[in-house]
Amino acid sequence: MDWGMRNRLAQLIQPDGHCFFLPIDHGYFQGPTRRLEKPGETVKPLLPYADALFVTRGVLRACIDPANTKPIILRVSGGTSMVGKDLAHEGVTTSIEDIIRLNAAAVGVSIFVGSDYEHETLMNLANLVNACENYGIPVMAVTAVGRELEKRDARYLGLACRIAAELGARVVKTYWCEDFEKVVEGCPVPVVMAGGPRCDTEREVFDFVYDGMQRGAIGINLGRNVWQNDHPVAMAQALRAIVHEGATADEAEALFHRLVAG
Ligand code: 5RP
Repeated sequence: MDWGMRNRLAQLIQPDGHCFFLPIDHGYFQGPTRRLEKPGETVKPLLPYADALFVTRGVLRACIDPANTKPIILRVSGGTSMVGKDLAHEGVTTSIEDIIRLNAAAVGVSIFVGSDYEHETLMNLANLVNACENYGIPVMAVTAVGRELEKRDARYLGLACRIAAELGARVVKTYWCEDFEKVVEGCPVPVVMAGGPRCDTEREVFDFVYDGMQRGAIGINLGRNVWQNDHPVAMAQALRAIVHEGATADEAEALFHRLVAG
């Protein structure tokens, strides 16, 4: 592996082998998502606890201070919306020149395995890998499920993650599910967990993050369950404790409540 690729991966994945990515890319298909109406303000207090920010080029340029030194994972697929016909009908939105110009540490692209646009989105991934590998830029594949949340089982997610790795993704982001070790074991590159819609309680989040880490995930890419919480900074700190400090779900919950109580 070339120095540039290794250096970018080392910016994202910390010396303990784990990572906490903070995604704020949701607006690219769902518009001004609740508590992400002003992304720059949402992330400011959270950035110290995150290892990288997952963001589109538009929000990066408009809302994030260029003096920021957290690595940027650029969301580079899109072209669909919540009110359109099919969320899976994505293309690659960002040129390799802009990816380099914005000093991205990595890029993220969605694949929709099993959808009408399976082939197109898998070729988006493959073509992006071809372009990015030339410059030592890692591609993170996002196994998207669109509105079909029932697809979140180990069989489907294991299939999607393996295909993403086979096409050249350096990291795969997928959902936590029961028997998560089956997803990880079938995927030859590191797997990161996304959060999905907000859970009813903080404890549910700590439980699945802890379980996924025990079963082989290297970290998280959690958005709504952090910044839609009433106490986003406490949430970020508690999750960081699981990911980087080996805290259990009990310990993370206790830390969360201590931080909230002040
Ligand atoms: C949205 C994404 C998000 O990065 C991903 O879903 C993680 O965010 P959340 O934890 O809110 O689900 O890819 O397209």
